[in-house]
Amino acid sequence: MCLSFLSSKVLVLVFMVSCINQVNSQKFCNVDDFGAVGDGKTDNTNAFRNAWKQACQSGGAVSMVNGTYLLNTIQFTGPCNGQVSFMINAVIQAHQGRSNTNYWINFDNVDGLTIRGNGTLDGQGASAWPFNPCSNAVSCLPLTPSLMLTRIKQSLVHNITLLNSKGFHMKIENCENITIKSITITSPADSPNTDGIHTGNINYVNILNSSISTGDDCISMGAGTRNINITGVICGPGHGISVGSIGKYPSEQNVEGVNVRNCTMRSTQNGVRIKTWNSTFQIYVSDVTFQDIVMDNANNPIIIDQQYCGGGHECIGSSHVQVKDVKFIRVEGTSRSKIAVNLNCSSSKPCRGIELNNINLSLADGGNATSSCSNASVSYIGTQNPAPCQENYLYYDA
Ligand SMILES: *[C@@H]1O[C@H](CO)[C@@H](O)[C@H](O)[C@H]1NC(C)=O
Ligand SMILES: *[C@@H]1O[C@H](CO)[C@@H](O)[C@H](O)[C@H]1NC(C)=O
Ligand SMILES: *[C@@H]1O[C@H](CO)[C@@H](O)[C@H](O)[C@H]1NC(C)=O
Ligand SMILES: *[C@@H]1O[C@H](CO)[C@@H](O)[C@H](O)[C@H]1NC(C)=O
Ligand SMILES: *[C@@H]1O[C@H](CO)[C@@H](O)[C@H](O)[C@H]1NC(C)=O
Ligand SMILES: *[C@@H]1O[C@H](CO)[C@@H](O)[C@H](O)[C@H]1NC(C)=O
Ligand SMILES: *[C@@H]1O[C@H](CO)[C@@H](O)[C@H](O)[C@H]1NC(C)=O
Ligand SMILES: *[C@@H]1O[C@H](CO)[C@@H](O)[C@H](O)[C@H]1NC(C)=O
Ligand SMILES: *[C@@H]1O[C@H](CO)[C@@H](O)[C@H](O)[C@H]1NC(C)=O
Ligand SMILES: *[C@@H]1O[C@H](CO)[C@@H](O)[C@H](O)[C@H]1NC(C)=O
Ligand SMILES: *[C@@H]1O[C@H](CO)[C@@H](O)[C@H](O)[C@H]1NC(C)=O
Ligand SMILES: *[C@@H]1O[C@H](CO)[C@@H](O)[C@H](O)[C@H]1NC(C)=O
Repeated sequence: MCLSFLSSKVLVLVFMVSCINQVNSQKFCNVDDFGAVGDGKTDNTNAFRNAWKQACQSGGAVSMVNGTYLLNTIQFTGPCNGQVSFMINAVIQAHQGRSNTNYWINFDNVDGLTIRGNGTLDGQGASAWPFNPCSNAVSCLPLTPSLMLTRIKQSLVHNITLLNSKGFHMKIENCENITIKSITITSPADSPNTDGIHTGNINYVNILNSSISTGDDCISMGAGTRNINITGVICGPGHGISVGSIGKYPSEQNVEGVNVRNCTMRSTQNGVRIKTWNSTFQIYVSDVTFQDIVMDNANNPIIIDQQYCGGGHECIGSSHVQVKDVKFIRVEGTSRSKIAVNLNCSSSKPCRGIELNNINLSLADGGNATSSCSNASVSYIGTQNPAPCQENYLYYDA
Protein backbone atom coordinates (compact mmCIF):
# COMPACT_ATOMS: atom_id res chain seq x y z
CA MET A 1 0.00 0.00 0.00
CA CYS A 2 1.37 3.38 -0.93
CA LEU A 3 -0.42 6.18 0.85
CA SER A 4 0.76 8.92 -1.45
CA PHE A 5 -1.77 7.65 -4.02
CA LEU A 6 -4.67 8.30 -1.67
CA SER A 7 -6.57 11.54 -1.31
CA SER A 8 -5.82 13.62 1.76
CA LYS A 9 -9.22 12.79 3.31
CA VAL A 10 -8.58 9.07 3.10
CA LEU A 11 -5.06 9.74 4.33
CA VAL A 12 -6.36 11.32 7.54
CA LEU A 13 -8.72 8.38 8.01
CA VAL A 14 -5.91 5.89 7.49
CA PHE A 15 -3.71 7.83 9.91
CA MET A 16 -6.34 7.65 12.63
CA VAL A 17 -6.48 3.89 12.46
CA SER A 18 -2.74 3.67 11.89
CA CYS A 19 -1.69 4.84 15.34
CA ILE A 20 -2.77 2.22 17.82
CA ASN A 21 -3.63 3.22 21.37
CA GLN A 22 -1.60 1.45 24.03
CA VAL A 23 -2.25 0.90 27.72
CA ASN A 24 -0.22 3.94 28.74
CA SER A 25 -2.31 5.93 26.25
CA GLN A 26 0.65 6.65 23.96
CA LYS A 27 -0.27 6.03 20.33
CA PHE A 28 2.06 3.83 18.30
CA CYS A 29 2.39 4.80 14.66
CA ASN A 30 3.99 1.77 13.08
CA VAL A 31 5.73 2.81 9.89
CA ASP A 32 4.47 -0.33 8.14
CA ASP A 33 0.92 1.02 8.47
CA PHE A 34 2.07 4.09 6.56
CA GLY A 35 3.37 2.03 3.69
CA ALA A 36 6.93 1.35 4.79
CA VAL A 37 8.54 -1.90 3.75
CA GLY A 38 11.52 -3.13 5.74
CA ASP A 39 13.06 -5.11 2.93
CA GLY A 40 16.27 -3.11 2.58
CA LYS A 41 15.30 -2.11 -0.98
CA THR A 42 12.22 0.09 -0.85
CA ASP A 43 12.78 3.75 -0.06
CA ASN A 44 10.61 4.61 2.95
CA THR A 45 11.14 8.33 3.23
CA ASN A 46 7.49 9.28 2.59
CA ALA A 47 6.11 6.61 4.90
CA PHE A 48 8.40 7.73 7.74
CA ARG A 49 7.50 11.37 7.13
CA ASN A 50 3.78 10.58 7.34
CA ALA A 51 4.15 8.41 10.44
CA TRP A 52 6.09 11.23 12.12
CA LYS A 53 3.48 13.82 11.15
CA GLN A 54 0.80 11.76 12.82
CA ALA A 55 2.85 10.90 15.91
CA CYS A 56 3.86 14.54 16.28
CA GLN A 57 0.25 15.75 16.02
CA SER A 58 -1.10 13.21 18.46
CA GLY A 59 1.79 13.01 20.94
CA GLY A 60 2.49 9.44 19.90
CA ALA A 61 5.38 7.22 18.96
CA VAL A 62 6.77 6.35 15.57
CA SER A 63 7.59 2.67 15.79
CA MET A 64 9.03 -0.17 13.78
CA VAL A 65 9.51 -3.70 14.95
CA ASN A 66 11.62 -5.57 12.46
CA GLY A 67 13.46 -5.38 9.17
CA THR A 68 15.78 -2.99 7.33
CA TYR A 69 14.25 0.31 6.31
CA LEU A 70 16.01 2.27 3.59
CA LEU A 71 15.69 5.99 4.19
CA ASN A 72 16.78 9.08 2.28
CA THR A 73 17.63 12.46 3.82
CA ILE A 74 14.77 13.30 6.17
CA GLN A 75 13.78 15.96 8.67
CA PHE A 76 11.43 15.27 11.57
CA THR A 77 10.24 18.68 12.67
CA GLY A 78 8.15 19.98 15.57
CA PRO A 79 6.76 21.55 17.50
CA CYS A 80 4.64 18.55 18.46
CA ASN A 81 1.64 18.10 20.71
CA GLY A 82 3.01 16.57 23.88
CA GLN A 83 5.79 14.04 24.26
CA VAL A 84 6.83 12.24 21.12
CA SER A 85 8.84 9.06 20.79
CA PHE A 86 10.77 7.52 17.97
CA MET A 87 11.25 3.83 18.70
CA ILE A 88 13.84 2.10 16.61
CA ASN A 89 13.70 -1.67 16.88
CA ALA A 90 14.87 -2.30 13.35
CA VAL A 91 17.71 -1.24 11.10
CA ILE A 92 17.31 2.14 9.45
CA GLN A 93 19.69 2.30 6.55
CA ALA A 94 21.04 5.20 4.49
CA HIS A 95 21.44 4.92 0.74
CA GLN A 96 24.81 3.81 -0.57
CA GLY A 97 27.34 6.31 -1.82
CA ARG A 98 28.81 9.73 -1.27
CA SER A 99 26.67 12.55 0.09
CA ASN A 100 27.39 15.97 1.57
CA THR A 101 23.97 16.97 2.86
CA ASN A 102 23.84 18.68 6.28
CA TYR A 103 22.34 15.55 7.79
CA TRP A 104 20.86 12.20 6.99
CA ILE A 105 18.25 12.25 9.77
CA ASN A 106 17.44 15.53 11.51
CA PHE A 107 15.12 16.02 14.47
CA ASP A 108 14.37 19.72 14.75
CA ASN A 109 12.44 21.93 17.13
CA VAL A 110 10.93 19.29 19.41
CA ASP A 111 10.37 19.58 23.14
CA GLY A 112 10.16 16.27 25.01
CA LEU A 113 11.44 13.83 22.39
CA THR A 114 12.53 10.28 23.17
CA ILE A 115 14.55 8.31 20.63
CA ARG A 116 15.01 4.78 21.84
CA GLY A 117 15.04 1.11 21.04
CA ASN A 118 17.44 -1.69 20.32
CA GLY A 119 17.75 -0.76 16.67
CA THR A 120 20.49 0.64 14.49
CA LEU A 121 21.05 3.65 12.27
CA ASP A 122 23.34 2.36 9.56
CA GLY A 123 24.95 5.18 7.55
CA GLN A 124 26.57 2.81 5.01
CA GLY A 125 29.73 4.87 5.38
CA ALA A 126 32.08 2.45 3.65
CA SER A 127 30.55 3.48 0.32
CA ALA A 128 31.31 7.17 1.02
CA TRP A 129 34.62 7.26 2.92
CA PRO A 130 36.81 6.92 -0.19
CA PHE A 131 35.32 10.25 -1.35
CA ASN A 132 35.89 12.12 1.94
CA PRO A 133 37.09 15.61 0.92
CA CYS A 134 38.21 16.61 4.42
CA SER A 135 41.10 14.28 5.20
CA ASN A 136 43.80 16.88 4.72
CA ALA A 137 41.97 20.00 3.64
CA VAL A 138 41.78 23.18 5.75
CA SER A 139 38.26 23.84 4.50
CA CYS A 140 35.94 21.34 2.88
CA LEU A 141 32.33 20.20 2.81
CA PRO A 142 32.18 17.23 5.19
CA LEU A 143 30.35 14.02 4.41
CA THR A 144 26.83 13.66 5.77
CA PRO A 145 26.37 13.22 9.53
CA SER A 146 23.89 10.48 10.42
CA LEU A 147 21.80 11.84 13.28
CA MET A 148 21.49 15.55 13.84
CA LEU A 149 19.54 17.13 16.69
CA THR A 150 18.77 20.83 16.42
CA ARG A 151 16.55 22.94 18.69
CA ILE A 152 15.65 19.87 20.77
CA LYS A 153 14.81 20.31 24.46
CA GLN A 154 14.04 18.10 27.46
CA SER A 155 14.84 14.97 25.49
CA LEU A 156 16.37 11.52 25.71
CA VAL A 157 18.30 9.30 23.32
CA HIS A 158 18.47 5.80 24.76
CA ASN A 159 19.96 2.46 23.74
CA ILE A 160 20.21 2.86 19.98
CA THR A 161 23.25 1.96 17.89
CA LEU A 162 24.82 4.19 15.26
CA LEU A 163 26.86 2.27 12.73
CA ASN A 164 29.25 3.40 9.99
CA SER A 165 28.15 6.98 9.51
CA LYS A 166 29.37 8.68 6.35
CA GLY A 167 30.45 11.73 8.39
CA PHE A 168 29.90 12.46 12.11
CA HIS A 169 27.63 9.91 13.77
CA MET A 170 25.73 12.41 15.84
CA LYS A 171 25.61 16.20 15.99
CA ILE A 172 23.82 18.10 18.74
CA GLU A 173 23.41 21.80 18.09
CA ASN A 174 21.32 24.57 19.65
CA CYS A 175 19.83 22.07 22.09
CA GLU A 176 19.07 22.14 25.80
CA ASN A 177 18.68 19.45 28.45
CA ILE A 178 19.42 16.33 26.44
CA THR A 179 20.40 12.96 27.90
CA ILE A 180 22.17 10.41 25.73
CA LYS A 181 22.26 7.11 27.53
CA SER A 182 23.55 3.59 26.83
CA ILE A 183 24.15 4.10 23.14
CA THR A 184 26.69 2.33 20.96
CA ILE A 185 28.60 3.98 18.14
CA THR A 186 30.71 1.83 15.87
CA SER A 187 32.82 2.49 12.82
CA PRO A 188 36.33 1.37 11.86
CA ALA A 189 39.51 3.04 13.16
CA ASP A 190 40.45 4.13 9.64
CA SER A 191 37.09 5.69 8.71
CA PRO A 192 37.77 9.40 8.09
CA ASN A 193 36.14 12.19 10.16
CA THR A 194 33.57 9.90 11.71
CA ASP A 195 33.35 11.68 15.08
CA GLY A 196 31.08 9.90 17.54
CA ILE A 197 29.16 12.79 19.09
CA HIS A 198 29.76 16.46 18.36
CA THR A 199 28.17 19.24 20.40
CA GLY A 200 27.94 22.96 19.68
CA ASN A 201 25.87 25.76 21.26
CA ILE A 202 24.24 23.45 23.75
CA ASN A 203 23.38 23.75 27.42
CA TYR A 204 22.81 20.92 29.90
CA VAL A 205 23.71 17.74 28.10
CA ASN A 206 24.44 14.35 29.67
CA ILE A 207 26.21 11.57 27.82
CA LEU A 208 26.15 8.45 29.96
CA ASN A 209 27.16 4.79 29.89
CA SER A 210 27.99 4.54 26.21
CA SER A 211 30.52 2.86 24.01
CA ILE A 212 32.05 4.75 21.09
CA SER A 213 34.46 3.35 18.48
CA THR A 214 35.25 5.56 15.51
CA GLY A 215 37.95 6.84 13.18
CA ASP A 216 37.94 10.33 14.69
CA ASP A 217 37.02 12.03 17.98
CA CYS A 218 34.96 9.93 20.35
CA ILE A 219 33.19 13.06 21.59
CA SER A 220 34.10 16.53 20.35
CA MET A 221 32.77 19.55 22.20
CA GLY A 222 32.68 22.51 19.88
CA ALA A 223 32.16 26.20 20.47
CA GLY A 224 29.24 27.16 22.70
CA THR A 225 29.20 23.87 24.63
CA ARG A 226 28.08 24.59 28.20
CA ASN A 227 27.28 22.38 31.17
CA ILE A 228 27.95 18.96 29.77
CA ASN A 229 28.50 15.78 31.79
CA ILE A 230 30.13 12.82 30.12
CA THR A 231 30.12 9.81 32.42
CA GLY A 232 30.91 6.13 31.93
CA VAL A 233 31.89 6.35 28.28
CA ILE A 234 34.30 3.85 26.76
CA CYS A 235 36.17 5.26 23.75
CA GLY A 236 38.35 3.48 21.24
CA PRO A 237 39.49 3.17 18.66
CA GLY A 238 39.34 6.85 17.78
CA HIS A 239 40.89 10.18 18.70
CA GLY A 240 39.64 10.48 22.28
CA ILE A 241 37.47 13.03 24.05
CA SER A 242 38.11 16.55 22.92
CA VAL A 243 37.16 20.11 23.70
CA GLY A 244 37.45 21.77 20.33
CA SER A 245 38.60 22.57 17.98
CA ILE A 246 37.84 26.13 19.14
CA GLY A 247 38.84 29.45 17.62
CA LYS A 248 38.47 28.87 13.91
CA TYR A 249 35.48 31.18 13.32
CA PRO A 250 34.91 34.64 14.88
CA SER A 251 31.24 33.83 15.57
CA GLU A 252 32.18 31.18 18.13
CA GLN A 253 30.97 31.21 21.75
CA ASN A 254 32.87 30.20 24.90
CA VAL A 255 33.05 26.66 26.22
CA GLU A 256 32.23 26.42 29.90
CA GLY A 257 31.31 23.72 32.43
CA VAL A 258 32.64 20.44 31.03
CA ASN A 259 32.71 17.37 33.30
CA VAL A 260 34.19 14.15 31.99
CA ARG A 261 34.10 11.38 34.58
CA ASN A 262 34.72 7.65 34.79
CA CYS A 263 35.69 7.20 31.15
CA THR A 264 38.10 4.77 29.51
CA MET A 265 40.28 5.43 26.46
CA ARG A 266 41.35 2.27 24.66
CA SER A 267 44.08 2.57 22.02
CA THR A 268 42.98 6.08 21.17
CA GLN A 269 45.12 8.59 19.28
CA ASN A 270 44.60 11.10 22.11
CA GLY A 271 43.16 10.69 25.57
CA VAL A 272 41.57 13.87 26.88
CA ARG A 273 42.37 16.90 24.79
CA ILE A 274 41.73 20.61 24.38
CA LYS A 275 42.58 21.96 20.93
CA THR A 276 42.42 25.57 19.76
CA TRP A 277 43.19 27.39 16.51
CA ASN A 278 45.33 30.51 16.06
CA SER A 279 42.35 32.84 16.52
CA THR A 280 42.84 36.58 16.71
CA PHE A 281 39.49 37.07 18.49
CA GLN A 282 39.19 36.38 22.20
CA ILE A 283 37.05 33.63 23.64
CA TYR A 284 37.68 31.15 26.42
CA VAL A 285 37.51 27.51 27.42
CA SER A 286 36.88 27.41 31.13
CA ASP A 287 35.85 25.17 34.02
CA VAL A 288 36.74 21.80 32.51
CA THR A 289 37.28 18.69 34.66
CA PHE A 290 38.51 15.30 33.53
CA GLN A 291 38.39 12.86 36.43
CA ASP A 292 38.69 9.12 36.99
CA ILE A 293 39.93 8.51 33.49
CA VAL A 294 41.60 5.23 32.57
CA MET A 295 44.08 5.31 29.71
CA ASP A 296 44.61 1.93 28.12
CA ASN A 297 47.46 2.36 25.64
CA ALA A 298 46.40 5.86 24.61
CA ASN A 299 48.61 8.19 22.60
CA ASN A 300 48.88 11.71 24.11
CA PRO A 301 46.81 10.81 27.21
CA ILE A 302 46.65 14.41 28.48
CA ILE A 303 47.06 17.10 25.87
CA ILE A 304 46.31 20.79 25.47
CA ASP A 305 47.21 21.83 21.94
CA GLN A 306 46.81 25.53 21.28
CA GLN A 307 48.68 25.26 17.99
CA TYR A 308 45.97 23.21 16.35
CA CYS A 309 45.25 24.22 12.76
CA GLY A 310 43.54 21.10 11.49
CA GLY A 311 45.30 17.80 10.92
CA GLY A 312 48.91 18.28 9.86
CA HIS A 313 48.89 22.08 9.52
CA GLU A 314 51.29 24.27 11.49
CA CYS A 315 49.67 27.42 12.83
CA ILE A 316 51.06 30.84 12.09
CA GLY A 317 50.55 33.13 15.06
CA SER A 318 49.40 32.27 18.56
CA SER A 319 45.90 31.40 19.71
CA HIS A 320 43.86 34.03 21.52
CA VAL A 321 41.61 31.40 23.04
CA GLN A 322 42.11 31.56 26.82
CA VAL A 323 42.21 28.11 28.41
CA LYS A 324 41.60 28.35 32.15
CA ASP A 325 40.54 26.34 35.21
CA VAL A 326 41.14 22.88 33.80
CA LYS A 327 41.53 19.95 36.19
CA PHE A 328 42.89 16.50 35.50
CA ILE A 329 42.04 14.33 38.51
CA ARG A 330 43.00 10.64 38.84
CA VAL A 331 44.07 10.03 35.27
CA GLU A 332 45.78 6.64 35.26
CA GLY A 333 46.99 3.91 32.99
CA THR A 334 49.29 3.52 30.03
CA SER A 335 50.58 5.90 27.38
CA ARG A 336 51.78 4.94 23.94
CA SER A 337 53.61 8.25 23.45
CA LYS A 338 56.71 9.18 25.47
CA ILE A 339 55.15 12.54 26.36
CA ALA A 340 52.11 11.55 28.42
CA VAL A 341 51.28 15.04 29.71
CA ASN A 342 51.60 17.71 27.04
CA LEU A 343 50.48 21.24 27.87
CA ASN A 344 51.27 23.17 24.68
CA CYS A 345 49.56 26.46 25.50
CA SER A 346 49.38 29.84 23.82
CA SER A 347 52.21 32.34 24.19
CA SER A 348 49.74 35.24 23.98
CA LYS A 349 47.14 33.68 26.30
CA PRO A 350 49.04 31.23 28.56
CA CYS A 351 46.89 28.54 30.20
CA ARG A 352 45.78 29.51 33.70
CA GLY A 353 44.65 27.39 36.61
CA ILE A 354 45.67 23.99 35.30
CA GLU A 355 45.52 21.33 38.03
CA LEU A 356 47.23 17.97 37.74
CA ASN A 357 45.87 15.88 40.58
CA ASN A 358 47.00 12.27 41.11
CA ILE A 359 48.28 11.46 37.69
CA ASN A 360 49.74 8.00 37.13
CA LEU A 361 50.65 7.29 33.51
CA SER A 362 53.36 4.85 32.50
CA LEU A 363 54.61 3.94 29.09
CA ALA A 364 52.72 1.06 27.60
CA ASP A 365 55.97 -0.77 26.81
CA GLY A 366 57.50 -0.09 30.26
CA GLY A 367 59.67 2.83 31.33
CA ASN A 368 58.82 6.34 32.38
CA ALA A 369 56.72 8.78 30.47
CA THR A 370 57.54 12.50 30.47
CA SER A 371 55.74 15.84 30.73
CA SER A 372 56.05 18.89 28.51
CA CYS A 373 54.72 22.34 29.33
CA SER A 374 54.76 25.60 27.40
CA ASN A 375 53.06 28.74 28.61
CA ALA A 376 51.09 26.94 31.30
CA SER A 377 50.50 27.77 34.93
CA VAL A 378 50.16 24.42 36.67
CA SER A 379 49.46 23.31 40.21
CA TYR A 380 50.32 19.76 41.20
CA ILE A 381 48.47 17.70 43.82
CA GLY A 382 49.29 14.12 44.89
CA THR A 383 51.02 11.50 42.78
CA GLN A 384 52.77 12.79 39.66
CA ASN A 385 53.84 10.16 37.22
CA PRO A 386 55.24 11.39 34.86
CA ALA A 387 57.26 13.83 36.92
CA PRO A 388 56.17 17.48 36.66
CA CYS A 389 57.66 19.72 34.00
CA GLN A 390 61.16 20.91 34.81
CA GLU A 391 61.08 23.92 32.54
CA ASN A 392 58.84 26.05 30.42
CA TYR A 393 56.10 26.43 32.95
CA LEU A 394 55.26 29.73 34.57
CA TYR A 395 55.00 28.69 38.20
CA TYR A 396 54.55 25.62 40.30
CA ASP A 397 52.32 25.54 43.39
CA ALA A 398 53.27 22.42 45.38
C1 LIG B 1 11.17 -10.10 10.82
O1 LIG B 1 11.45 -10.08 9.43
C2 LIG B 1 11.93 -11.30 8.96
C3 LIG B 1 12.34 -11.12 7.50
O2 LIG B 1 11.54 -10.19 6.87
C4 LIG B 1 10.81 -12.35 9.12
O3 LIG B 1 11.27 -13.60 8.67
C5 LIG B 1 10.43 -12.43 10.58
O4 LIG B 1 9.32 -13.31 10.73
C6 LIG B 1 10.05 -11.08 11.13
N1 LIG B 1 9.84 -11.16 12.57
C7 LIG B 1 8.85 -10.53 13.17
C8 LIG B 1 8.78 -10.68 14.66
O5 LIG B 1 8.05 -9.84 12.58
C1 LIG C 1 17.90 -1.40 25.87
O1 LIG C 1 18.59 -2.52 25.37
C2 LIG C 1 18.56 -3.62 26.28
C3 LIG C 1 19.44 -4.70 25.72
O2 LIG C 1 19.37 -4.76 24.34
C4 LIG C 1 17.12 -4.06 26.47
O3 LIG C 1 17.08 -5.10 27.40
C5 LIG C 1 16.28 -2.90 26.96
O4 LIG C 1 14.93 -3.27 27.01
C6 LIG C 1 16.43 -1.72 26.05
N1 LIG C 1 15.75 -0.58 26.61
C7 LIG C 1 15.03 0.22 25.85
C8 LIG C 1 14.40 1.38 26.54
O5 LIG C 1 14.87 0.04 24.68
C1 LIG D 1 14.64 -4.16 23.24
O1 LIG D 1 14.82 -5.56 23.21
C2 LIG D 1 14.38 -6.18 24.40
C3 LIG D 1 14.78 -7.64 24.38
O2 LIG D 1 15.03 -8.06 23.07
C4 LIG D 1 12.88 -5.98 24.55
O3 LIG D 1 12.46 -6.56 25.75
C5 LIG D 1 12.59 -4.51 24.58
O4 LIG D 1 11.21 -4.29 24.61
C6 LIG D 1 13.17 -3.84 23.36
N1 LIG D 1 13.03 -2.40 23.48
C7 LIG D 1 12.04 -1.74 22.92
C8 LIG D 1 12.01 -0.28 23.10
O5 LIG D 1 11.22 -2.30 22.24
C1 LIG E 1 15.24 17.81 31.43
O1 LIG E 1 14.54 16.88 30.62
C2 LIG E 1 13.95 15.81 31.34
C3 LIG E 1 13.29 14.89 30.35
O2 LIG E 1 14.25 14.30 29.52
C4 LIG E 1 12.95 16.35 32.35
O3 LIG E 1 12.46 15.28 33.12
C5 LIG E 1 13.64 17.36 33.25
O4 LIG E 1 12.69 17.97 34.07
C6 LIG E 1 14.29 18.45 32.41
N1 LIG E 1 15.06 19.34 33.27
C7 LIG E 1 15.01 20.66 33.13
C8 LIG E 1 15.85 21.43 34.07
O5 LIG E 1 14.37 21.20 32.24
C1 LIG F 1 24.87 0.61 29.94
O1 LIG F 1 24.77 0.45 28.54
C2 LIG F 1 24.76 -0.91 28.12
C3 LIG F 1 24.71 -0.89 26.62
O2 LIG F 1 25.63 0.02 26.11
C4 LIG F 1 23.55 -1.62 28.72
O3 LIG F 1 23.60 -2.96 28.35
C5 LIG F 1 23.57 -1.47 30.22
O4 LIG F 1 22.37 -1.98 30.75
C6 LIG F 1 23.66 0.01 30.62
N1 LIG F 1 23.79 0.15 32.05
C7 LIG F 1 23.10 1.06 32.74
C8 LIG F 1 23.36 1.09 34.20
O5 LIG F 1 22.33 1.84 32.20
C1 LIG G 1 26.41 17.25 35.94
O1 LIG G 1 26.82 16.68 37.17
C2 LIG G 1 26.79 17.59 38.23
C3 LIG G 1 27.39 16.92 39.44
O2 LIG G 1 26.94 15.61 39.58
C4 LIG G 1 25.34 18.04 38.45
O3 LIG G 1 25.28 18.97 39.50
C5 LIG G 1 24.82 18.68 37.17
O4 LIG G 1 23.47 19.00 37.31
C6 LIG G 1 24.97 17.73 36.02
N1 LIG G 1 24.66 18.39 34.77
C7 LIG G 1 23.69 18.00 34.00
C8 LIG G 1 23.58 18.66 32.67
O5 LIG G 1 22.91 17.11 34.32
C1 LIG H 1 32.09 3.64 35.34
O1 LIG H 1 31.75 3.32 34.00
C2 LIG H 1 31.65 1.93 33.75
C3 LIG H 1 31.35 1.76 32.29
O2 LIG H 1 32.40 2.28 31.57
C4 LIG H 1 30.53 1.35 34.62
O3 LIG H 1 30.48 -0.04 34.42
C5 LIG H 1 30.83 1.65 36.08
O4 LIG H 1 29.75 1.23 36.86
C6 LIG H 1 31.04 3.13 36.30
N1 LIG H 1 31.47 3.38 37.67
C7 LIG H 1 31.02 4.40 38.38
C8 LIG H 1 31.55 4.52 39.77
O5 LIG H 1 30.22 5.21 37.96
C1 LIG I 1 53.76 22.35 20.43
O1 LIG I 1 53.15 22.80 19.22
C2 LIG I 1 54.10 23.17 18.21
C3 LIG I 1 53.34 23.70 17.03
O2 LIG I 1 52.43 22.74 16.55
C4 LIG I 1 54.93 21.94 17.83
O3 LIG I 1 55.91 22.31 16.89
C5 LIG I 1 55.59 21.38 19.08
O4 LIG I 1 56.25 20.17 18.76
C6 LIG I 1 54.56 21.10 20.16
N1 LIG I 1 55.21 20.65 21.35
C7 LIG I 1 55.01 19.45 21.85
C8 LIG I 1 55.78 19.11 23.07
O5 LIG I 1 54.21 18.66 21.37
C1 LIG J 1 46.74 30.48 11.26
O1 LIG J 1 47.70 29.61 10.69
C2 LIG J 1 47.47 29.30 9.33
C3 LIG J 1 48.50 28.30 8.88
O2 LIG J 1 48.10 27.03 9.30
C4 LIG J 1 47.53 30.57 8.50
O3 LIG J 1 47.23 30.26 7.17
C5 LIG J 1 46.53 31.57 9.04
O4 LIG J 1 46.67 32.79 8.37
C6 LIG J 1 46.75 31.80 10.52
N1 LIG J 1 45.67 32.64 11.03
C7 LIG J 1 45.90 33.73 11.72
C8 LIG J 1 44.71 34.47 12.20
O5 LIG J 1 47.03 34.14 11.94
C1 LIG K 1 50.59 3.74 39.41
O1 LIG K 1 50.16 2.73 38.51
C2 LIG K 1 50.94 1.55 38.63
C3 LIG K 1 50.52 0.63 37.51
O2 LIG K 1 49.15 0.46 37.49
C4 LIG K 1 50.72 0.96 40.00
O3 LIG K 1 51.50 -0.21 40.15
C5 LIG K 1 51.12 1.97 41.05
O4 LIG K 1 50.80 1.48 42.34
C6 LIG K 1 50.38 3.29 40.84
N1 LIG K 1 50.94 4.27 41.74
C7 LIG K 1 50.17 5.01 42.53
C8 LIG K 1 50.87 5.96 43.43
O5 LIG K 1 48.95 4.94 42.51
C1 LIG L 1 61.52 5.92 36.34
O1 LIG L 1 61.46 6.89 37.35
C2 LIG L 1 61.76 6.38 38.63
C3 LIG L 1 61.43 7.46 39.66
O2 LIG L 1 61.78 8.72 39.19
C4 LIG L 1 63.21 5.94 38.63
O3 LIG L 1 63.53 5.41 39.89
C5 LIG L 1 63.42 4.90 37.55
O4 LIG L 1 64.77 4.55 37.47
C6 LIG L 1 62.96 5.39 36.21
N1 LIG L 1 62.97 4.30 35.27
C7 LIG L 1 63.49 4.41 34.05
C8 LIG L 1 63.42 3.19 33.18
O5 LIG L 1 63.99 5.44 33.64
C1 LIG M 1 55.82 30.53 25.84
O1 LIG M 1 56.54 29.35 25.56
C2 LIG M 1 57.61 29.57 24.66
C3 LIG M 1 58.16 28.19 24.30
O2 LIG M 1 58.28 27.40 25.42
C4 LIG M 1 58.62 30.48 25.33
O3 LIG M 1 59.69 30.73 24.46
C5 LIG M 1 57.93 31.79 25.71
O4 LIG M 1 58.81 32.59 26.45
C6 LIG M 1 56.69 31.54 26.54
N1 LIG M 1 55.96 32.77 26.70
C7 LIG M 1 55.56 33.20 27.87
C8 LIG M 1 54.74 34.46 27.87
O5 LIG M 1 55.81 32.62 28.89
